[in-house]
Amino acid sequence: MNQEEARTRIYKLRKELNKHNHSYYVLSQPGISDYEYDLLMHELIGLENKYPVFFDSNSPSQRVGSDISKEFVQLEHQSPMLSLGNTYSLEELQDFDKRIKKIISEEFEYVCELKYDGTAISLTYLNGKLERAVTRGDGTRGDDVTRNVRTIKSIPLVLSGDNFPDKFEIRGEIIFPKKDFSRLNSEREARGEMPFANPRNASSGTLKMKNSSEVAKRPLDCQFYFILGDNLPFPSHFENLSAARSWGFKVPGQMAKYKNLDDVFSYIEKWDSERESLPFEIDGVVIKVNSFKLQNELGFTAKTPRWAISYKFKAEQVETRLLNVVYQVGRTGVITPVAILEPVVIAGSTIKRASVHNADQLGLMGFYYRDMVYVEKGGEIIPKIIGVVINKRPENATPVEFINECPECGTKLIRIEGEANHYCPNTTGCPPQIKGRIEHFISRKAMDIEGLGEETIELLYNEGLIKSSADLYELTIDQLSILERLGEKSANNIRNGLSMSREVPFQRVLFALGIRHVGETIAKILAREYLSIDALKTARIEDLILVEEIGEKIAKSLVQYFSDPVNLELISRLEQHGIQMKSDKETEIHSGSLNGLSFVISGTFAKFSRDELKELIENRGGKNLSGISSKTNFLVSGENAGPSKLQKAQELNIIIISEQELLDMIG
Ligand code: IVH
Repeated sequence: MNQEEARTRIYKLRKELNKHNHSYYVLSQPGISDYEYDLLMHELIGLENKYPVFFDSNSPSQRVGSDISKEFVQLEHQSPMLSLGNTYSLEELQDFDKRIKKIISEEFEYVCELKYDGTAISLTYLNGKLERAVTRGDGTRGDDVTRNVRTIKSIPLVLSGDNFPDKFEIRGEIIFPKKDFSRLNSEREARGEMPFANPRNASSGTLKMKNSSEVAKRPLDCQFYFILGDNLPFPSHFENLSAARSWGFKVPGQMAKYKNLDDVFSYIEKWDSERESLPFEIDGVVIKVNSFKLQNELGFTAKTPRWAISYKFKAEQVETRLLNVVYQVGRTGVITPVAILEPVVIAGSTIKRASVHNADQLGLMGFYYRDMVYVEKGGEIIPKIIGVVINKRPENATPVEFINECPECGTKLIRIEGEANHYCPNTTGCPPQIKGRIEHFISRKAMDIEGLGEETIELLYNEGLIKSSADLYELTIDQLSILERLGEKSANNIRNGLSMSREVPFQRVLFALGIRHVGETIAKILAREYLSIDALKTARIEDLILVEEIGEKIAKSLVQYFSDPVNLELISRLEQHGIQMKSDKETEIHSGSLNGLSFVISGTFAKFSRDELKELIENRGGKNLSGISSKTNFLVSGENAGPSKLQKAQELNIIIISEQELLDMIG
């Protein structure tokens, strides 16, 4: 075969393989057997290796990905990726319809689509070829995940047909099919990895993997729902998406066009009851005005189009059996009853346990062993038991009663007056409390010690090498590296991590100590107010409660903590190891630029984590609030910002800013 013949054959093989990919992954109608497909692919790869001049990143052979791992580069969206206003009520849909009809007097059509529950993606095609793939990011900029997206077989790398514009953008949702989800999780569990909570997390987690050949092994899929460009063939959404189907995109067949709201309601009803039968997760239905001209007339609010809305399905409820109630002991000795359930799939995740919070909750539930219970779970929400199916109670069942003694160390439990929790008071002798405190100390938001994790702490504790966080700083390389699974390299990593933790600012050290009721925010307030552990140690209840946000409960807990010689010794040992027990200068210098301003942070961000943004705000004198109220000055909105927060901010005329705008403000 000469070079010219090779070129012809390569082109033919690519075309043929693209066609088979489309039949298999988009139409779900395989045209040839896997074996025949592999033979063609094998031949193509052989020829491409022999004739590298014909390399093309859009060849179907390139979908296998590569091993080179790179951080993602951020790219700006041509037009912002907005979210949708949403509702759970049909009445609000009627209001949506009325609002539109106030502005538009002519007849119009609605397009109904399913609301796919995955990760949004924007693809740009130039002259029929995939140019770039970018995640939603903060709506303005996202991650360039082109290399990973190229491995998704249902995304065309080269388009078919001829009526597509030279340049256009198409947006869709990358999803993880339901059938593959439980398999992925069992494999992860078998490898000792954390299972994904739901298919949506599996899709976003996979999309952000650094190694695209790993992505290629996962069965990601993509459904398309939005197209934009200057020279689209039709002046309406439905018709353009249908055309996109003929160019090779997977545009789900459930998309439908209606002239009146009653038909929209029937569509919603149908898919609410039939969503289980779909091969992918959906969390609602999206309703859009079809005509581009009318969409332009309706326009946008700050964050969402006025011509579209999503109707979200209510949280799913299922019945399952309560097998047992176990009791967890937290690092502060708090006892949490946890219901062990017969595994049941709900809203795409397998639920095996649910927290019952405390003795009062347990009492309210009135469980008997082996009761059937109702469990509810929405997309984001943690599963909860909402009641007992009394008429299915087994005969001779016995009631579940709260325990009196610690399940781990046998100490009699106590309940502090006015508090809902029971505690095990054996702080220095109860193993989960000791380990929990050290695990909290090393955790990301606290001392963030690299190289150390829960498993290593467990190992070190079981070997009798540590009993408190101060002991960590006294471990020798020899002690560390003899441990099972820890080589010299990991031992050095741990030592480096510990050494770096000397830079951690005082406010985080204070949080890391794990004082009951002293969370991150309270630790920051205390560090700002008292500046050093020495000053805080001697503070009296009556002084403490004068500090904003410090109530009697926190004040008592602090005084109690500092009155215990064991804690004082721990602090003094940490201080000897160079841990910061005073506020650092930087915090003081920066403070002030946001004095008197209140912020609510919602969503995820491109440059900083939510916690880091909060820290930036607080370090500059600003205040973080958890919910929107008239006291809020700014809502900092990121990817997937809470729709109810956005809506409320708009209603109250609160300024909505992006991460970048916040950073600009801070300078
Ligand atoms: S349309 C300007 N259609 O939901 C309107 N979005 O809350 C753009 N989504 O970010 C979105 N299914 O990730 C649209 N059929 C559908 C959708 C859909 C899922 C996601 C998408 C978007 C989010 C909006």
